[in-house]
Amino acid sequence: MVLVDYRGEVTISGAKNAAVAILPATLLVNGKCHLENVPDISDIRAIIKILKSLGSKVEYISDHELIIDNTGVNITTAPYDLTCKFRASYYLLGALIGKFGSAQISLPGGCNLGARPIDQHIKAFESLGATIGVKRGNVYASAPKDGLNATSIFLDVVSVGATINAILAATLAKGTSTIENCAKEPHVVDVANFLNSVGANIKGAGTDVIKVTGVKELNQNSSYAVIPDQIEAGTFMVAAAITKGNVLIKNCIPKHMEPITAKLQEAGAEVIEFEDTIRVSMDDTPRPINIKTMPYPGFPTDMQPQICTLIAMSKGTGMIIESIWDSRFQYTDELIKMGADITAHGRTAMVKGVDKLYGSPVGAHDLRAGAAMILAGLVAHGRTEIYDIYHIERGYENIVEKFKNLGAKIEFYRDPEACVKESGVSC
Ligand code: UD1
Repeated sequence: MVLVDYRGEVTISGAKNAAVAILPATLLVNGKCHLENVPDISDIRAIIKILKSLGSKVEYISDHELIIDNTGVNITTAPYDLTCKFRASYYLLGALIGKFGSAQISLPGGCNLGARPIDQHIKAFESLGATIGVKRGNVYASAPKDGLNATSIFLDVVSVGATINAILAATLAKGTSTIENCAKEPHVVDVANFLNSVGANIKGAGTDVIKVTGVKELNQNSSYAVIPDQIEAGTFMVAAAITKGNVLIKNCIPKHMEPITAKLQEAGAEVIEFEDTIRVSMDDTPRPINIKTMPYPGFPTDMQPQICTLIAMSKGTGMIIESIWDSRFQYTDELIKMGADITAHGRTAMVKGVDKLYGSPVGAHDLRAGAAMILAGLVAHGRTEIYDIYHIERGYENIVEKFKNLGAKIEFYRDPEACVKESGVSC
């Protein structure tokens, strides 16, 4: 892949991290749920497969619009081989225990970013009265006979998953629950908005304190559109900057992009915001920037590998501090293969800009690391081959076509059978 002066426009898909929670959240609803702007990615296909195994009926109206009818759900044990593959399967716990009083899933898998405990999820469920057991790789949850009871939950760490799971479990519980030290990510707000659209009573999503007043039941809505994907939009913003291009990024929410916008501007990019569109352009070599990943509204950890690639091409030295995950610099070895000058220790990386990167075979260690490899490949001299692309397909819809439309020379070589074997999910 070689790309200079990269121009055009790209339309961002629905947010993976919102959709992977909203789909399980539909289990709480009596009747059908109509969802729009659902991304066509392998994590979503996996959740749909799980929902169907529980008894859900899922009808696609178009590639991104579907109707889920969970009235026939009569199983609360999710298949081990599917749930162990991806992290967001933990949302099945909150939804199933909230609606049916019992749940069993495997301990969640997902990207390898270091330790990924779920103690705060368990703490929230137990506070609501559930009994949780973890045995031989499975998590078992059961509610008291008369259902979950509202409570006060103080999360010890700011966790997206635990915040959403606490909301899911509290939505049909008796009384008003207060969840403190909540994550404020746009997808937390989106899940709460979806639940409120079907009759839940959730206040404060997007702040530190969320109050959930349990309702007796949730009923079908007319339609709910998932928000645009903040990280996909951010990835294309970096793509525009690193290639010294000029790209119009459509279907995004500029407010959600602010932490990324601010850093790109510091690096010398021009970022123009419109209502649901952002234009990013860059003329010069990037200035080095320092990044510390933080919960929203801080700089997202899921943009860390992509912004590292930009700093690796800057004129100077930048520092990255990863404050969310223990082990999120594994991908830097791949950038180093391409000629980058990066020294990573623990949660810190020193990134010295180089003039050139060189195409080489590299691995996509995880979803966002894979995106970073594409960005590096866009500007590298020569051909970059990226392996383990099933990671990328978990969260980026149609990424090859989207980059091609912007002028990149990029092709997909894929053995569908190998992909199914590796990811457990049909590509
Ligand atoms: C979500 C995102 C992921 C993103 C992360 C942080 C989804 C499906 N995934 O992951 O892409 O990188 O937010 O923005 O939405 N923690 C605990 N105990 C817990 C839960 C979390 O100690 O019970 C810690 C984690 O180890 C981590 C921090 O809290 O250090 C944040 O994790 P969390 O926000 O829960 O991440 P996920 O929801 O798994």
